[in-house]
Amino acid sequence: MCGIVGVVGNTNATDILIQGLEKLEYRGYDSAGIFVLGGAENHLVKAVGRIAELSAKTAGVEGTTGIGHTRWATHGKPTEDNAHPHRSETGRFVLVHNGVIENYLEIKEEYLAGHHFKGQTDTEIAVHLIGKFAEEDGLSVLEAFKKALHIIRGSYAFALIDSENPDVIYVAKNKSPLLIGLGDGYNMVCSDAMAMIRETNQYMEIHDQELVIVKADSVEVQDYDGNSRERASYTAELDLSDIGKGTYPYYMLKEIDEQPTVMRKLIQAYTDEAGQVVVDPAIIKAVQDADRIYILAAGTSYHAGFASKKMLEELTDTPVELGISSEWGYGMPLLSKKPLFIFISQSGETADSRQVLVKANEMGIPSLTVTNVPGSTLSREANHTMLLHAGPEIAVASTKAYTAQIAALAFLAKAVGQANGNAKAQAFDLVHELSIVAQSIESTLSEKETIEAKVRELLETTRNAFYIGRGQDYYVAMEASLKLKEISYIQCEGFAAGELKHGTIALIEEGTPVLALLSDPVLANHTRGNIQEVAARGAKVLTIAEENVAKDTDDIVLTTVHPYLSPISMVVPTQLVAYFATLHRGLDVDKPRNLAKSVTVE
Ligand code: F6R
Repeated sequence: MCGIVGVVGNTNATDILIQGLEKLEYRGYDSAGIFVLGGAENHLVKAVGRIAELSAKTAGVEGTTGIGHTRWATHGKPTEDNAHPHRSETGRFVLVHNGVIENYLEIKEEYLAGHHFKGQTDTEIAVHLIGKFAEEDGLSVLEAFKKALHIIRGSYAFALIDSENPDVIYVAKNKSPLLIGLGDGYNMVCSDAMAMIRETNQYMEIHDQELVIVKADSVEVQDYDGNSRERASYTAELDLSDIGKGTYPYYMLKEIDEQPTVMRKLIQAYTDEAGQVVVDPAIIKAVQDADRIYILAAGTSYHAGFASKKMLEELTDTPVELGISSEWGYGMPLLSKKPLFIFISQSGETADSRQVLVKANEMGIPSLTVTNVPGSTLSREANHTMLLHAGPEIAVASTKAYTAQIAALAFLAKAVGQANGNAKAQAFDLVHELSIVAQSIESTLSEKETIEAKVRELLETTRNAFYIGRGQDYYVAMEASLKLKEISYIQCEGFAAGELKHGTIALIEEGTPVLALLSDPVLANHTRGNIQEVAARGAKVLTIAEENVAKDTDDIVLTTVHPYLSPISMVVPTQLVAYFATLHRGLDVDKPRNLAKSVTVE
């Protein structure tokens, strides 16, 4: 989704902005732009398409201060006119914005009669409003910005420049992420630490409804009424080498391959020297105090919630309900008396989930965020956080975060169950079982060539496909089908195998690919019955089975793992299926159309 980067007081401003925008590319975007000043002249450069196209237009663009933006279109098509930065009526004020301004049409009508707009964006209206207050009404830049912030409703991260003053960037945020980066003799602003990690690992948080005046040698945080706020800086634990692609052709393949390592990192993070599982006692107590766990998430993270439900229920003796964040944000169902909300989010920034968390906080409901990003919004605003320790996930299609989410929740389930004296939890040797999972994934990864050949034959040209499974395999089927559709654009659905005959089987015709997942000894027999039914109607079937239920005829056979953890190892071949199908259809694996990595608008 949209990204912001800004720098003040560095003679390499253009390079820093372009490199920062490149680091934001993974979030998904369709156009980009920069504004640079502090050199011989001011420059506004924009391009539709990739950062490389923007970069090609920046020869001779020099200055000390600037702002840059990657845009993921919400209001108006991806054109240069709609790309940020946007300028005020006279061109003096220049603004980049992430988020959505809800009352932009009202603002236009009420304040901006007679103004001329180049594009259709809500952002252009915001910068015209600031410009009007400063230039037509005679307010100082700061007063004009504050006045506009009191009027604007919605979600935003703003970085504003007065083109007559290269010494300052003004920023403000509400519900959209934005950080300050502290450099040596210069400072930065950014919507994602990733874009600044090359320059600095010293960051400063900005809270909602705060305005920050960023100069080369100072950073001043204020509320919208001008009261100063103290803010300490912190050191980010990101490692520059984590965010490179190395020798891999795509981040997605690198991230799929990293999964055994991530499992081992999680073991290190959640065990003590004696190998005992260790989870923050306050988190264990929060689960013990709850009469029901509600898991809130979106997309792949939602699927990870399903895959963890049985394990959480059986080990913690607490019922688990799942909610789609975008549905719950505006309509909470009847809750139990002592609910605990668990937010699962790779990025920790998903606006839909945050909407639910804000409500939960208002209602006094305790919350835990399970996330890959320390210091992310959902982490800061929930009562507790468990980290995924998966390292940055760059490919839009989530892989290692999904498996890490299930593994992290396994540590939670085990720790609570053990504290409660739950017999199943005591018997569940999680560290050992997770090591077997890591080995099972490694052996699947060593079969890439076989998987690629089968996928090519089955999926290279098809329009649609189905994943089927029962029990935990059904939950994996949901995730497997999302992975396949989001990057290969094959229309794919994941079904509970037994449901096929209640309608969906009508879609099976000669050559329709059906991928069946089999891990549970009892359920596998029933799924095999369903495989017969679709095969009899012409489906081309590919089976992925754990050894304990496998037959000689199965296509991909996985090492057997503990049933609670089977979604982790079972999903890996399906990630490879999506990867190879996309590769052979000639598409960009890491940057599927229309999608963004971190979905910061509702
Ligand atoms: C799909 C994918 C998305 C995310 C969803 C939630 O591969 O990555 O479905 O899972 O947008 O994002 P997070 O987990 O960051 O809250």
